[in-house]
Amino acid sequence: MFVRRIAVIGTGYVGLTTGACLASLGHDVVCADVDADKIARLARGEVDILEPGLAELVAEGIAAGRLTFVLGAAAAVRHTAAGPEVMFLCVPTPMGVGGVADLSIVESVVEEVRDLLPSGCVVVNKSTVPVGTAERTEELLVRDDVAVVSNPEFLREGTAVEDFLNPDRIVVGGSKQDAAERVAALYSRLGAPTVLTDGPSAELVKYAANCFLAMKLSYVNAVAELCDRLGANITDVTEGMGYDKRIGQSFLQPGPGWGGSCLPKDTAAMLQLADAADFEFRLIRATIDTNTRQRQRMVEKVRLAVTGRRGGSLSHVRLGLLGLTFKAGTDDLRDSPALAVAALLRQAGADLVGYDPALRRGIRHPDLASITVVDDPYLAAKDAEALIVLTEWPEFRSLDWARLADTVRKPIVIDTRNLLDPAVARRVGFEWIGIGRN
Ligand code: UDX
Repeated sequence: MFVRRIAVIGTGYVGLTTGACLASLGHDVVCADVDADKIARLARGEVDILEPGLAELVAEGIAAGRLTFVLGAAAAVRHTAAGPEVMFLCVPTPMGVGGVADLSIVESVVEEVRDLLPSGCVVVNKSTVPVGTAERTEELLVRDDVAVVSNPEFLREGTAVEDFLNPDRIVVGGSKQDAAERVAALYSRLGAPTVLTDGPSAELVKYAANCFLAMKLSYVNAVAELCDRLGANITDVTEGMGYDKRIGQSFLQPGPGWGGSCLPKDTAAMLQLADAADFEFRLIRATIDTNTRQRQRMVEKVRLAVTGRRGGSLSHVRLGLLGLTFKAGTDDLRDSPALAVAALLRQAGADLVGYDPALRRGIRHPDLASITVVDDPYLAAKDAEALIVLTEWPEFRSLDWARLADTVRKPIVIDTRNLLDPAVARRVGFEWIGIGRN
């Protein structure tokens, strides 16, 4: 394997994981960010995102002299006399107006480094970007001697390092095959199947994969609704489905809807993308609508459970929320379905007290404004008219449910993740209400 000089622009989840993992594979990596404080902390080995194994890899990389942090993209390019052989763009591509990915940050980085990049350098787009961005970036660069390829990431938050080092596949696409091959070779030690293709196809893989996952989840949530209505059991139904190798067991867990930093953004972008290509992608529209409805359904479940009737009032009803992050194993609140359900409950007049293992008491965050965040689950349960499990943190299973039953005002738990063992909750007197099963 060749050791390459690599620059990584952006030190968020994707950039930092990419930089630290590539350094651990033996490459020389310089990471850049525009946030001076963050760069100073990273240079001291301080990682402020919750990602198992990442802090260790950063420390190892720094100690081995293979991982450096600098302020700004230009500094990363100038870091060595010869400049980077490969430069990864891992900057945010937020959802802009009408669901179109906002590329202004990618564009400003390209502007900043355009005249600095050494001849023969390959620029790699890792951010999720609209189809055609690699080609557009090439145009923006106006450098015949610098190639642009797309190399989408498929990292899940909470297992990003593990996913990077054990990928299901590596996808690299661009107009210059030798540049794509050079980027694919960076990962050769991982032994993963590699798809080499053109830029637009590589870019579409990411959207197509994430939209498929979202569709799978919306489908499962809709089947769970049907289970509720027909008296069937979603756990058994999905187990029975999942043994079919064409379907698989994963991503079959019903919940309060899907969320996070990728699926909502990518489904919206896919719709936009299809729209611009004059194609009405109804399946994606239905996937998103089903997800929006799923959140409302959770509120209806709470209303029925607490008031005993459909559409009952939640005004001034105190509810204890267990879990606020968008999934277990992360402290990320972006597009959290838990917070979406909480917002609807608040709109309905409920008073919300929330506990999440990843969040500290009194944390300030705009999305948490209407929730009193406590650092003890029993405090969240105090005098609650119902408990609502919103995030699938495994530790909720091993709470002292007898103590919780004594703490709440009414022993009702609405388990939107089907996380708990209903028998355990019922044994201590809770009315357990799940999704798509009894
Ligand atoms: C996702 C993709 O998995 C990853 O490949 C991509 O690159 C980024 O987006 P992530 O957003 O970290 O990763 O979370 P993921 O684990 O995929 O979960 C997404 C959402 O689906 C969460 O809200 C989660 O709670 C929900 N989910 C997941 C379910 O409701 N049921 C499941 O069975 C699995």
